[in-house]
Amino acid sequence: MPGSAPPAGRQSVDDVALWYHTLELPGGVVTPGWFDLRGVVRRLPWPEVRGKRCLDVGTYDGFYAFELERRGAREVVATDIARHEDWDLPAPGRSQAEAALRQLAGEKGLGFEVAREVLGSRVEKRILSVYDLSPDRVGTFDVVVCGNLMLHLRDPVRALEAIRSVCTGRFMSIEEVSLGLSIALRKRAVAELRLDPRLGQWWVPNAAGHARVVAVAGFEVIEQMGPFSEPFGAGHPPRGRGAGPLALRLARQLLAGGDGVPHAALLARPVI
Ligand SMILES: C[S@@+](CC[C@H](N)C(=O)[O-])C[C@H]1O[C@@H](n2cnc3c(N)ncnc32)[C@H](O)[C@@H]1O
Repeated sequence: MPGSAPPAGRQSVDDVALWYHTLELPGGVVTPGWFDLRGVVRRLPWPEVRGKRCLDVGTYDGFYAFELERRGAREVVATDIARHEDWDLPAPGRSQAEAALRQLAGEKGLGFEVAREVLGSRVEKRILSVYDLSPDRVGTFDVVVCGNLMLHLRDPVRALEAIRSVCTGRFMSIEEVSLGLSIALRKRAVAELRLDPRLGQWWVPNAAGHARVVAVAGFEVIEQMGPFSEPFGAGHPPRGRGAGPLALRLARQLLAGGDGVPHAALLARPVI
């Protein structure tokens, strides 16, 4: 359960307005994240990371970066944007969405800084858009991990090409997928156009579409997993009640193994 944390320099767990990730910190402190990946992380298609140089793109509070470090990576770099205004948001409703983000999420990147300090982590944070990843700027990486970023981008293929330019070994991609389209069109690559400025969402593919987009950017997909549910954490706002939301929850239980946001994960290697 959330609680008081050991002091982290000037700021502590309680100073973070919104925890995206549920993180286990020293002293029995568990951050009240919007999403709790602890139950799914072991099932993801991880490559060997021990002794490797690794990158986590779009790290938020750093769940995957700290996991790479825990698994024995030699060096971990975590990237993110600096400000809420740097999200790739659809133009209609953009300024309202930015204001809502500022109010809800508070200081961008504070959760990562607090967690890194209390964990005594050596993960290096770099402020850099995924579009700007290049060997000149960050070097190359044996392993790249990226979760839940493509649906927030106007141009996911360009972003994946930039990831490919810095990936020499393995790329693990974990993304929200449309559960209905993944079940109904298992082999056909399609995507749902969300264009929701409040959530900063553009396209959400089905599982086949997720794999296809990664392949088009110059990867060979070597392992796939899902759809599976990424569970909500203790800090997530209450979900809707009534027959519609209940039916949705039941469908996710039945088809994706639990309540949460439907996801697919894959492991790929660069081929171009
Ligand atoms: C939905 S969160 C996902 C966090 C984490 N990767 C996960 O899978 O749980 C998306 C993250 O990507 C970051 N982000 C948004 N646009 C970005 C961009 N153009 N380049 C890099 N990161 C970006 C956001 O700031 C946020 O930290």
